[in-house]
Amino acid sequence: MPLLEVKNLDVSFGLRSGEIKALRNINFTLERGERLGLVGESGAGKSVLGFSILNLIAKPGRISAGEIYFEGRNLAELSPEELRSVRGNRISMIFQDPMMTLNPVLTIGQQMIECLQAHRKINKDNARTIAVQKLKQVQIPSPETRIDQYPHELSGGMRQRVVIAIGLLMDPDIIIADEPTTALDVTIQAEIMELMVELCERNNVALILITHDLGVVSQVTQKALVMYAGRVIEQGPTREIINDAQHPYTQGLMNALPQMAIPGQRLNQIRGAMPGLQSIPTGCAFNPRCDYVVEACTKQLPGYTVSGNCQVACHMVADMKKAQQAPEEVSS
Ligand SMILES: Nc1ncnc2c1ncn2[C@@H]1O[C@H](COP(=O)(O)OP(=O)(O)OP(=O)(O)O)[C@@H](O)[C@H]1O
Ligand SMILES: [Mg+2]
Repeated sequence: MPLLEVKNLDVSFGLRSGEIKALRNINFTLERGERLGLVGESGAGKSVLGFSILNLIAKPGRISAGEIYFEGRNLAELSPEELRSVRGNRISMIFQDPMMTLNPVLTIGQQMIECLQAHRKINKDNARTIAVQKLKQVQIPSPETRIDQYPHELSGGMRQRVVIAIGLLMDPDIIIADEPTTALDVTIQAEIMELMVELCERNNVALILITHDLGVVSQVTQKALVMYAGRVIEQGPTREIINDAQHPYTQGLMNALPQMAIPGQRLNQIRGAMPGLQSIPTGCAFNPRCDYVVEACTKQLPGYTVSGNCQVACHMVADMKKAQQAPEEVSS
């Protein structure tokens, strides 16, 4: 049984203008200790998916179809108390902005101790010992004194380390990290990401990493979901996706990576922009930006084609694969 299973998940927002689907038919599994990347442009639905796993979609949003199973149990069928315990103890979330997690008027220690005492029967001294231990794990220097400081007394990088320490506080099974390093200096980003991966590995914690950056996904995760306008357009083992991207959108993301650029030349950004959810084109949502578009792409939503160990939602994927394998035949 997988640790987490998301099955045919739809999330909708009821707006005055009507209901819009922010997520359509999302399917994936996550094993214990596995690292999964959710990647795509702004507005693709990555954060909505992260929140829906915690059943934290705020109104007017709701899970309108599908199920989420944690250790085989349907989250929708848990009592409010059980759900709170899953959220507090088993699955934790780390955000881009440390101040979404940290309370500016409490010291780091007060917040960590409060958090521990809310979820465990534990006295203050023991809670403090655990908190110091976690701060040590995230390599905060002199944690015994740092613990009594307020968030504003720490640098951005240190604050994000504290947030990771809080994320690890309850020894969760899954951490959902939503752009955890985007707000940091580039030099610190890699350091924090490395630390997070090391801690997940050491504690056998599964990670769902939400990011715009396919480069980070390739370094950190074993599995990836590429999202576009609320749908997964390609998913599979990260290495396969990186080495042999099948969907033209994934290929576009690959070509836009700075490490793929030829020095002195502009980056190959994908032309155009992702549509808003209210104006998704018929057929394949990517069709106005795609170089391989054929008639079917503008008429019919592509189903998933299996390619190697990946699933790809593209009408052209079989043809492109053939063209790759036998270029002479196709051109003749
Ligand atoms: N509270 C809301 N009310 C209505 N629509 C919403 C709400 N939250 C999200 N959406 C819709 O869901 C879409 C996806 O949002 P989401 O925040 O998941 O994008 P994202 O992929 O995380 O983008 P980013 O990379 O910018 O964080 C948005 O474009 C928006 O249309
Ligand atoms: Mg987001």
